[in-house]
Amino acid sequence: MNKKILVTGGAGYIGTHTCIALHAAGYDIVVYDNLSNSSREAINRVSILIGQPIDFIEGDIRDAESLRQAFVDHRFFGVIHFAGLKAVGESVTKPLLYYNNNVSGTITLLEVMRQYNVKNLIFSSSATVYGDPKFLPIDESSSRSCTNPYGQSKLTVEHILEDLAVSDESWNLIPLRYFNPVGAHPSGQIGEDPNDIPNNLMPYISQVAVGKLPKLSIFGNDYPTIDGTGVRDFIHVTDLAQGHVAALDYLKQQTSIEEHGSDEKSSDKKNSIGFLPINLGTGKGTSVLELVAAFSKVSEQNIPYHFVSRRAGDIASCYASADKAKDMLKWRAKLSITDMCQDTWRWQSMNPNGYDGSI
Ligand code: NAD
Ligand code: WQD
Repeated sequence: MNKKILVTGGAGYIGTHTCIALHAAGYDIVVYDNLSNSSREAINRVSILIGQPIDFIEGDIRDAESLRQAFVDHRFFGVIHFAGLKAVGESVTKPLLYYNNNVSGTITLLEVMRQYNVKNLIFSSSATVYGDPKFLPIDESSSRSCTNPYGQSKLTVEHILEDLAVSDESWNLIPLRYFNPVGAHPSGQIGEDPNDIPNNLMPYISQVAVGKLPKLSIFGNDYPTIDGTGVRDFIHVTDLAQGHVAALDYLKQQTSIEEHGSDEKSSDKKNSIGFLPINLGTGKGTSVLELVAAFSKVSEQNIPYHFVSRRAGDIASCYASADKAKDMLKWRAKLSITDMCQDTWRWQSMNPNGYDGSI
C-alpha cells in the first residue's frame, strides 16, 4: 500500500511536528520547502528525532518544474500542504506577495497533482476564515469572511478546493482549520522560531519569560470575556500533528473502500470525500491573562505585562466545536494548557535563539 506523502512546508513549525507524527504512524515522507521561513537545522533535528535522514527537496511551490520533478521521482499517495506565508500584519503591507505565494502557489501545486493523478490533499486552513464568529463554539458550517489578505488567501484556496471537488469527484480535499497552535515537541528540540519580534501571543510570552523581551503588551482589557482579555482556543502542536495523521488515515480508509467496493451496485456507496473542512481545536477557550498566569506558574518566571488598546482586526472570543473531528476522524486534542506552556518553555529555554546558534 502506497504510504508516501509529500509534505510542502514540512520544515516549518507545524510541518516538522507533523513529519514526526507521520513517521511514527508508518508514513514515508518527502519534505518540500523553500526555507523562506525555516532552516536546515530544523530538518536535521527532525532527522535525529526520527532516527533516519529526511528526504528533503529545497524548492518553491510556485516552481512547477521543480514540483514535477518531485512527482517524477516519487509516487505519492497524497500531499499535506503547509507551505505558505502566515503573518497577518505583513500580508496587509504585502498583499501581492501573500496572494502569489499562498494562492498562486497552491494552484501550481494542484495542477501538478492533477497531471500526476495524485488527488488526495490535506490543506492548512485556519480559523481565521470564520472572521468574527456569530456563534460559539464555531462549527464548520459557520459563515466565512476575512478582513486581511492572509485570511483572504486561505479563504480563496478553500473556494478553489470546493470548485475543484465539484468539477471532478475523484478529488479528496480536506482543509483543516487550525485554531491557535502553540507548544513544542516534548524533547525541546523543535518548536516555533519566529524570525523577528513575535506577532503571536505564546512566542511573545515565552520570549518575555526567557528575558529576550522586556514586557508583554496585552491588546485590550475591555472585551466581553471572563476577564476582559481576548479568548482563544490554544491547541498543542503535537495534538495538531496527530490530527493530520487522523485525517490522512481517514482519507486512506475512505479511498481504499472506494477501490475495493467499486462493484457495489448502489451509487450511495461512493466514497469520494470531495471537499471536507474540519476544525482542529480543543473546544475550550482560554483568555490572554489565563495563559500568562499558566506560563508564569510553569516557568517560575515573572511575566511583566501592561494593557494597551485593542489590536486592529482582533475579535473577542474564538473557540472550536471539535465534534466533527471527533466523529469523523476519531481524533481529539488531549494536551492541557499546562502541557502547552511546559513544552513551549522547555523549547524556549533550551533554544533561546531558536535554531540560530543552536547549542
Ligand atoms: P511556518 O512558516 O513555520 O511554516 C511554513 C513553511 O512553508 C516554512 O517552512 C516556509 O519556509 C515554507 N514555505 C513558505 N512559502 C513557500 C513556498 N512558496 N514554497 C515552499 N515552501 C514555502 O508556518 P506554520 O506555523 O508551520 O504554518 C503552516 C501552515 O499552517 C501555513 O500555511 C499557515 O498559514 C497555516 N496556519 C498556521 C497557523 C499558526 O498559527 N501557526 C494557524 C492556522 C493556519
Ligand atoms: C491571541 C490573543 C491578541 C499578542 C493569529 C492569526 C490567525 C492564526 C493564528 C494563522 C489575541 C492577544 C497577542 C500580543 C496580545 N494564524 N495578544 N499581545 O490573533 O488569535 O490568531 O494566529 O492562520 O490567522 O490571526 O493569535 O496569538 O496573535 O493572539 O495581547 O503581543 O492574544 O490580542 O487576543 P490570533 P495571536
